[in-house]
Amino acid sequence: MAAPDFAPWRMRAEAALERALPDPATAPRRLHAAMRHGVLNGGKRMRPLLVYATGTALGAREADLDAAAAAVELVHCYSLVHDDLPAMDDDDLRRGQPTVHVAFDEATAILAGDALQTLAFEALAAAPQAPAQRISMLAELARASGVAGMCGGQALDIDATGQAIALIELERLHALKTGALLRCAVRLGALAANATPAQAEQLDRYADALGLAYQVRDDLLDIEGDAATLGKTAGKDIAQDKATFPALLGVDASRARLEELSAVMRQALDALDAETGALHALARQVVERSH
Ligand code: IPE
Ligand code: IPE
Ligand code: MG
Ligand code: MG
Ligand code: MG
Repeated sequence: MAAPDFAPWRMRAEAALERALPDPATAPRRLHAAMRHGVLNGGKRMRPLLVYATGTALGAREADLDAAAAAVELVHCYSLVHDDLPAMDDDDLRRGQPTVHVAFDEATAILAGDALQTLAFEALAAAPQAPAQRISMLAELARASGVAGMCGGQALDIDATGQAIALIELERLHALKTGALLRCAVRLGALAANATPAQAEQLDRYADALGLAYQVRDDLLDIEGDAATLGKTAGKDIAQDKATFPALLGVDASRARLEELSAVMRQALDALDAETGALHALARQVVERSH
């Protein structure tokens, strides 16, 4: 089967992000420029693609998914701006460009991350869904971003750095720091499209496997990739003694785990009563991606 062309959904997401972001010509200009640098810098837009793929699979219109797609990507971009700070992973390259604190300064990067996070909720609050649906979507994004999701996972990541942890703890760390927002993207698409409980159950199985697979692949790429392809510095995880799948299990077992997760994703989609071509293709991209 030919891979679907995701360029139109990427363009929709870029346009929705551009609409949400502040005008660079208005004050405070430096903060606005830093926010735009942290977002409009060539991300893969995987989370918006998941919103569009899930929502349209269940019959939603693309235009009704734009706000959710932009909101989850804004939270993701904020998480990257803060993840790269000297106090965290101390990275100077992101998406092939200097990180926000390098291109601007640390205080501006902290504020840009803060402002991107609140902008995400402002954008989602203006989504076209009915008020009750919108509140469910806002709650979903808040949970996925906070202590029970990305922030909690980042805290576990910091705690685990330099420590030996069990596989079950590593899976929990990955499920939170990266899985939560990817799962949120799927759930926002499902909520926007009024998924049935049976559909939501299979989509959760798909999204949980996808979220874990995404970080396992990220860990492998940190070992196997190069900065030119990745757009970020390779080899950082070993240098910083991070808790990763390859560090704990080795490269071969990590690849085997990816295969298992692929099978879980396929089974969940096969059990889903919807047109799942795009979701299958995104699952393949997650495990096969080279950046
Ligand atoms: C990188 O995310 C950080 C992780 C959560 C693994 P992506 O690989 O989705 O990065 P972009 O958005 O395409 O730059
Ligand atoms: C990042 O994980 C997860 C979040 C930003 C929440 P990593 O620290 O592994 O991501 P990269 O490798 O810097 O993109
Ligand atoms: Mg990190
Ligand atoms: Mg990092
Ligand atoms: Mg990484």
